[in-house]
Amino acid sequence: MVGVKFPDDFIWGAATSSYQVEGAWNEDGKGESIWDRFSHTPGKIFNGDTGDIAGDHYHRFLDDIKVMKDIGLRAYRFSISWPRIFPTGKGKVNQKGVEFYDKLIDELKENDIEPLVTLYHWDLPVELNKYGAWESNDVVDAFLNYAQFVFNQYGDRVKNWITFNEPMIFTYLFYSIGLYEKRDYDSAFKATHMINVAHARAIETFRSCDHPDGKIGIALNITPVYPKTNSQLDAKLVLLNDGLINRWFLDPVLKGEYPTDILDIVRKKFKFPIPSRKDLELLKNNPMDFLGINNYSCARVHAKRERDLDNIAKILIPQQPSKEAEISEMGWEIYPRGLYDLLKRIDEDYDHPEIHITENGMACKDNIIDGEVVQDDDRISYLKRYLTEVNNAIQDGVKIKSYFVWSLIDNFEWVSGYSKKFGIIKVNPETLDRTRKKSAYWYKNVIKENGFSYQ
Ligand code: GCO
Repeated sequence: MVGVKFPDDFIWGAATSSYQVEGAWNEDGKGESIWDRFSHTPGKIFNGDTGDIAGDHYHRFLDDIKVMKDIGLRAYRFSISWPRIFPTGKGKVNQKGVEFYDKLIDELKENDIEPLVTLYHWDLPVELNKYGAWESNDVVDAFLNYAQFVFNQYGDRVKNWITFNEPMIFTYLFYSIGLYEKRDYDSAFKATHMINVAHARAIETFRSCDHPDGKIGIALNITPVYPKTNSQLDAKLVLLNDGLINRWFLDPVLKGEYPTDILDIVRKKFKFPIPSRKDLELLKNNPMDFLGINNYSCARVHAKRERDLDNIAKILIPQQPSKEAEISEMGWEIYPRGLYDLLKRIDEDYDHPEIHITENGMACKDNIIDGEVVQDDDRISYLKRYLTEVNNAIQDGVKIKSYFVWSLIDNFEWVSGYSKKFGIIKVNPETLDRTRKKSAYWYKNVIKENGFSYQ
């Protein structure tokens, strides 16, 4: 067989997040989140879609776990909805919400599927907005209180934790599209640092709670950046872009410092104090156990003139892929080699951290249906090529321990609503019934064989 084989202990999983799949947005005492509020605001989400019902995972998780089991998943990555546990972010606990995750976790364990739990996948309790969201100490304290509660509640069964999912998105992007009261980059950059502090303090809390065994990390969306031409300007723009979207997030959690070139620029352009020695020490003294990487695409950047290196807000908006590029339904370039490049680079630049691929997958057109089965061959081709690069990186010594396909089921794709489908399992928009796509059958076989052939 010509194909790829993964290490014997490699872990195959699938991922979701609370707001994108659970639904039951105001059931059993759950509080309102910023995404409930945002999606209920006219004009914010494509087609006026909301996560009110989403994939109805809240009511159907038992069935979903049956399918996971049948596919052979060894791990399931999901997030806890903070306002389900603390409806207003802090204070009184909502027992019904606590029980939901108890049942979900028990059922997963019962089926030999390891939970990988994300504490925060963007659904901040809306009440906390009044303190100033992520640029406020009160919110960080509330987060730590919530983190401590869930570590103690579920830590006897959950061994793998992720503090935050993609801080870059819920700072740079969310502070510009209006998820919080503030809408400016000063707040966004301040929040990036507050989140790093919250991450380090959550690790500290984790190590000192009732169940200190287990592992904890963060999930960062890392995108390899390439120049469109050989010009000096493009080379400079690559450094700048990579610095802002990648190193700004990697360096603090892996090295306990900020990249000095970017720190200088951020301080010149925005209100960003020099991070205190105390905060940096906190980061240094609380290293995480692994790095989660979410990757879907690459960035190609081009600067026409010196001035293009000046406008940070513009630099943060992804440039369009070239006309010849192969793209997904999201409009993102498909460039599997980019995942290899970034894995190698992180391994080299950050002292060989343990890596988990916490998200990778593709939105594609799923409407070619042969009988009952969605023929999502494009997705299979995407996954094959990306997994080949993951395997190449493993062969070259990068410590990659697991892979989570995004996503288990079709779900609410944020501002795109339900128009973009990432699931390997289709969710019928009317009945919410599940049907496996061809990729789910393919993935089942990959797990069984611990690899795949190229035909
Ligand atoms: C993200 C989120 C997911 C998205 C996925 C596709 O990483 O952006 O974790 O919630 O749905 O990435 O955009």
